[in-house]
Amino acid sequence: MNIVDLITKKKLGQELTGEEISFFVDGAANKTIPDYQLAAMLMAIRLVGMNARETTDLTVAMLRSGDVADLSAIPGIKVDKHSTGGVGDTTTLVLAPLVACCGVPVAKMSGRGLGHTGGTLDKLESIPGMSVELTAERFVQQVKEIGVAVIGQTGRLAPADKTLYALRDVTSTVDSLPLIASSIMSKKLASGADAIVLDVKTGSGAIMQTLEGSVALGRAMVEIGRLAGKPVVALVTGMAQPLGTHVGNALEVKDAIEVLSGKTKGDLLEVSLLLGSHMLRLAGRVNTAEEGRRELEKALRSGAGLEKLRQLIAAQGGDPRVCDDVSLLPQPAVRVPVRCGVSGYVQRMDTTALGLAAQAMGAGRQRKTDVLDYSVGFILPVRIGDRVSPDTLLCELWACSGEEAARAEQAIRAAVTIGGEPVQRPPLCYEIIE
Ligand code: URA
Repeated sequence: MNIVDLITKKKLGQELTGEEISFFVDGAANKTIPDYQLAAMLMAIRLVGMNARETTDLTVAMLRSGDVADLSAIPGIKVDKHSTGGVGDTTTLVLAPLVACCGVPVAKMSGRGLGHTGGTLDKLESIPGMSVELTAERFVQQVKEIGVAVIGQTGRLAPADKTLYALRDVTSTVDSLPLIASSIMSKKLASGADAIVLDVKTGSGAIMQTLEGSVALGRAMVEIGRLAGKPVVALVTGMAQPLGTHVGNALEVKDAIEVLSGKTKGDLLEVSLLLGSHMLRLAGRVNTAEEGRRELEKALRSGAGLEKLRQLIAAQGGDPRVCDDVSLLPQPAVRVPVRCGVSGYVQRMDTTALGLAAQAMGAGRQRKTDVLDYSVGFILPVRIGDRVSPDTLLCELWACSGEEAARAEQAIRAAVTIGGEPVQRPPLCYEIIE
């Protein structure tokens, strides 16, 4: 088989057979196909699409490119959660400790930033000393001991995805239903969980921005789960604005700590409780999501969730004192408050542009090899529907220089529309697909 022929076939809008898809995926996993040909195929798939059969074959080939984790040594039903990616979307750092406090083991494999979206691993690595690379044995041991571990995909789990994910990030091939569905589901099936909760984002900061596209993605992944015999629930949640008020790596860790300390309420907490409640339900710990929410709220109120985050950080070599003193997280060279400058209502946000503004400041990668600046990003306290005056704080920029802050200010001002007409707050959850 010749990869150029396969790229041509896809480019011309033809269907690829299961063997052809396996050839491409194995070439990505074994590095026998060079990056430029992989990237060309990814772009052909992004532009032409794949049908349901090809998407399932792609998922299965990516799953088979590596091992399947064996979590059987951990007692209980293991439920994983995965987000299609958002801005200020740090639900894992909030819900993983809370769910673990409720007696459901969280053995979580997370990803890095992709395109304009942030990644849990990058956020965790902003904590001084924190490691996200554990051996499989240590990973299992940690979950048995403290109920929670969050690590990167190991080299042997869906290695094809590792290669393709990094290439997609820098070749504008992220926003493709078959590529997202196969990437997420191959990893989740390989991670050995018994059940999966998917957070499918929709809106201006989501990879799939239309509700129709997001629902189609959710359905495709639930269907792949069904074929694999795993219970999967997909919640389509709003990404018309950053989920939390903080965007950037250390900033999002700070946001999560403030939520777990009970200092901050709002959409980040709400979506974390929603996803976490379905994790408790799929684990059989509760009968309904409402009951799950009550359990999670108890863990939040008692401080057990924050204590669990401390344990998680300490177990993975990080400095747990960040939970009591967020100034121990990386700090920027400059902090610049920016005021709204006009009166009116926050009507709309271009959340992808906000994510790209943080990426350009150094919070995300533009090339595979880029080194992140964990300290940079911004706090955006305004929400869609808020009434603002010229003095209202639009954002606080955390930047490596005054020039970088000025560039980010321009981008953020352009991304937030303030107008005379009041608007409704966007919904947090649009649909639950089971
Ligand atoms: N998250 C993933 O793991 N893969 C994607 O393709 C998109 C989001």
